[in-house]
Order: sequence, then structure tokens, then C-alpha cells
Amino acid sequence: MRLVENIFLTSSLHDIGKVGIPDYILLKPGRLDDKEFSIMKSHTVIGFETLEEALQKTPEASYLHVAAEIARHHHEKFDGSGYPDGLSGDRIPVASRIFALSDVYDALVSKRPYKEPFTHDRARSIIFEGRGNHFDPMVVDAFLACEQRFIEVCEHYRS
Ligand SMILES: [Fe+2]
Repeated sequence: MRLVENIFLTSSLHDIGKVGIPDYILLKPGRLDDKEFSIMKSHTVIGFETLEEALQKTPEASYLHVAAEIARHHHEKFDGSGYPDGLSGDRIPVASRIFALSDVYDALVSKRPYKEPFTHDRARSIIFEGRGNHFDPMVVDAFLACEQRFIEVCEHYRS
């Protein structure tokens, strides 16, 4: 199966590790303190370990390998300032580099309890600011090359 299909099929599992995070942190309306944030960050490793264990039990389900990579590394940043492993550049699996941009775009254009949805143009400029520090420049360029498709998908799910 192609990588892009694996990303499509498995990326909804990226935050599965949040089942291991206490509700008082997940549901906290305000900002997390340092200790709470470090517990929250562990959702990446919990998700990875859960999916790796599933992969060991069903080795034929190779797509779980991509799911596990995305779960572990979707909060890494291209410049190495992300978590949990502080990977940078090409050391971050490509599926995770692609998903990281999609996840941030989705968060920006979605309504949240603490914010209204941002417009595509505002999300686009925030993502462009992250080119080379938060995001892989090639992934940002690919996003810009097909941004109309992002707008269409966004409008489809909004309606
Ligand atoms: Fe996450």
C-alpha cells in the first residue's frame, strides 16, 4: 500500500495515547502548567507503544507501523524543538512530517472552546511562518501547491 494511503487510513489514530492521560488534564479549560504539560506530552509515547503492541500481535497489519510513527512523532518539529524525542529534519518519519502540518491546519481552521475557526488565509500564513522551523519546507511547499484542495476539504466537512 502506498504511504499516502497508509497516512489516510491510520492518521485518525494519532492521539490514541490520550486515553492514558487523566481527564483533569485533558479537560482543563485553562493553560497547562509544566507538570501537566509533561504528562500531556506522554500521549505520543503511550500511543506509539499501544500501536506497536498491536503490530506485534498482528504483524500482517503493516499499516500499523505508519500509525505508530505518526502517533509518536506528530509533535516533533523540523528544527528539533518538538517532542517526545526532539528529532529534527529527515530523522522525523516523513509520514509524521506530513501529518504534523495537516494536524495544525485542522486545529487552526476548526472551532475550539477557546477560539473561533481561523480563515484559510490566516492558517496559511501561520503555516508559512513555520516553514523550516516547525514544518518540513518541502511539506509546506506541497501544501501551498495544493492549498485549494485543503479549502475544498475544509468546506466539505464544515457544511
Ligand atoms: Fe497529539
